[in-house]
Amino acid sequence: WRSSLPAQLESADRSDEDSGGDIDWDNLGFGLTPTDYMYVMRCSLEDGVFSRGELCRYGNIELSPSAGVINYGQGLFEGLKAYRRSGRQRYMLFRPEENARRMQHGAERMCMPSPSVEQFVHAVKQTVLANRRWVPPREKGALYIRPLLIGSGPILGLAPAPEYTFLIYAAPVGNYFKEGLAPINLVVEDAFHRAMPGGTGGVKTITNYAPVLKAQMEAKSKGFTDVLYLDAVHKRYLEEASSCNLFIIKGGVVATPATVGTILPGITRKSIIELARDRGYQVEERLVSIDDLIGADEVFCTGTAVVVAPVSTVTYQGQRHEFRTGQGTLSQTLHTALTSIQMGLAEDKKGWTVAI
Ligand code: COI
Repeated sequence: WRSSLPAQLESADRSDEDSGGDIDWDNLGFGLTPTDYMYVMRCSLEDGVFSRGELCRYGNIELSPSAGVINYGQGLFEGLKAYRRSGRQRYMLFRPEENARRMQHGAERMCMPSPSVEQFVHAVKQTVLANRRWVPPREKGALYIRPLLIGSGPILGLAPAPEYTFLIYAAPVGNYFKEGLAPINLVVEDAFHRAMPGGTGGVKTITNYAPVLKAQMEAKSKGFTDVLYLDAVHKRYLEEASSCNLFIIKGGVVATPATVGTILPGITRKSIIELARDRGYQVEERLVSIDDLIGADEVFCTGTAVVVAPVSTVTYQGQRHEFRTGQGTLSQTLHTALTSIQMGLAEDKKGWTVAI
């Protein structure tokens, strides 16, 4: 975990223009390419406050077998991206304070101390700068940044861990789905659920993700891209996909499931709502039933990793329903509007981007 680095960082500074090894920038998927550095900061439960963090070489970490995160899943993660742009400030983050606040909210739910917004954003910037040679060329992808907050201290009885680690690593990524930017095909899952009222579906705990693997694997084996989850009580209202939020459009009105505790409050989701409203669309955050979905003109998913993914088909109880995709769709307009801001191709009138 520990290795101080002024010397290595200086050399990272000098190698600003180095590309990331032999990487094929034209064919980046969402695989893990190890980068050079990670950022680590620790805190005891007693102190409740994170002390100064540091960059160290990216590599395996040492954990007690009785660490809270391994035994009881006390952990959260975040995801955000850095883009390369031209000019003196050469890297750009998208709304990193939102990730910091979401982590704080999740930490409160998971009984963990969390870094301040300033600490979080500072650590993200440090991680990007230290790994700058891995930020893909413009329009080829982004550096995906993965902050983790874990109960790293040992604990046997069920209780909050005595020590916490905040860690950030990063990897260059392209499109999330193997379809690339092509429309995706979803299947509605009605046996397994992602979240339940009173649970943790509304926070980005690591424990929300492994339980969706079973349905995801089954869906993939049948040729679907991902799974759409229904609410666990009525089994009638849509919640989200395994790793992204859902939007439908009907008659020019946009609707997305309201974030009522079982749905992750996505930062891309929030941004897309604002961009659609700016363009004069009515956007409703409400219950979205399976019938609403089936009757929709357009359907799309949003997420940091996914960005804005048009949905061409949704299969529910064996019936396949098709939706509009491609030229002239709102999802395409919103995708362009969002990514232009993120990549610095359009003026950021919202103040969403943070230059490094
Ligand atoms: C993200 O969009 O950043 C996520 O956290 C989804 C993850 C499963 C890749």
